Amino acid sequence: MRRLYVFDTTLRDGEQSLGITLNVKEKLEIGRQLVKLGVDIIEAGFPASSPGDMESVRTLAKELKGVVICGLTRAVAPDIDLCAEALRKAEYPRIHTGIGVSPVHMEKKLKLTPDQVVEQAVAAVKYAKKYVSDVEFYAEDAFRSDPIFLAKVIENVISAGATVVNLPDTVGYASPWEYGELIESVFKNVRNIDRAIVSVHCHNDLGMATANSLAGIKAGASQVEGTINGIGERAGNTSLEEVVMSIYTRRDGYGVESKVNTREISATSRLVSRITGVTVPDHKAIVGANAFNHASGIHQDGVLKDRKTYEIIQPETIGVPKNLISLTARSGRHALKHCLQELGYEVEGAQLDDVYQRFLQLADLKKEVFDQDLYVLMGDSGSMA
Ligand code: KIV
Ligand code: ZN
Repeated sequence: MRRLYVFDTTLRDGEQSLGITLNVKEKLEIGRQLVKLGVDIIEAGFPASSPGDMESVRTLAKELKGVVICGLTRAVAPDIDLCAEALRKAEYPRIHTGIGVSPVHMEKKLKLTPDQVVEQAVAAVKYAKKYVSDVEFYAEDAFRSDPIFLAKVIENVISAGATVVNLPDTVGYASPWEYGELIESVFKNVRNIDRAIVSVHCHNDLGMATANSLAGIKAGASQVEGTINGIGERAGNTSLEEVVMSIYTRRDGYGVESKVNTREISATSRLVSRITGVTVPDHKAIVGANAFNHASGIHQDGVLKDRKTYEIIQPETIGVPKNLISLTARSGRHALKHCLQELGYEVEGAQLDDVYQRFLQLADLKKEVFDQDLYVLMGDSGSMA
């Protein structure tokens, strides 16, 4: 099995979500939980962006041990100086520098020729190497770049000392097969690629960030970047919990394993949601409130007979104590009997039929039937076990 390095950017790309600003204390609290979760790299912020972010990176670098602490920079010396200063106390510091490589980024945003971009990229990596040995280079908008030019940039930054090369789908434009091909082409066309780790960094504009990241991993990438709950600018980043659990659940399919402690996933998701104020949709994969909640009769009957019928992940694996059976108008006798048993009632045969008919009348009036409703239903029929 190849080792998959998990790079968490909740505190940098995730914080770029509209409406989120995290102070030092909040970043530290999330950072401590990310260490418990077992991610390999924490991107703590973009020190040149504000004094507050500088302070956050400095604090996390000093306080968090046993994990790589990373800061983002543009490919310019003043950003790199500030980042190096912020990372001074880190046990394992990493500078993440880079530049746009797609035609639209080079022409419209940077107003640089491709040759000037290569020159600036190489200079930035060499400059960062004066401070730290671990330098990651991001080729912003790599997916929309010319693959031949991308290979040239990557080869040059690796020769300049980059230890990790990050190939972002910055605007979430890729499909899984195309992103997989991009990663394959880098392995094929960059002569010194064996000297660096290839990293995937995807955005969710078309809802494919997780699928694209997995395609990149399957094509040989050994680092995945993303955020908890998928927070991030516009439609967000790759949800790390989705990638980690996809790999955990389908290990043989990807040929990689991470050292994430999956049992901390739920706690991490809840903490990030509480601190950022960004609620997790009920139906969100892995961490949504309904992810382990069975609501229809056929499914409830199935899981009560054998959980494997409708559960591909045991909730305990991500730190959720148990699955849920929610009673609705779609529930059957089996689920009702089970929920009544949990409350201490034993009902069978004709008595169960009677309670079930009254349950259905109530369920048609409500979205969900709760324990209190069951007590009322049992008030005039059934007996306590
Ligand atoms: O999406 C992106 O291209 C980025 C880089 C700055 C790493 O977040
Ligand atoms: Zn990004």
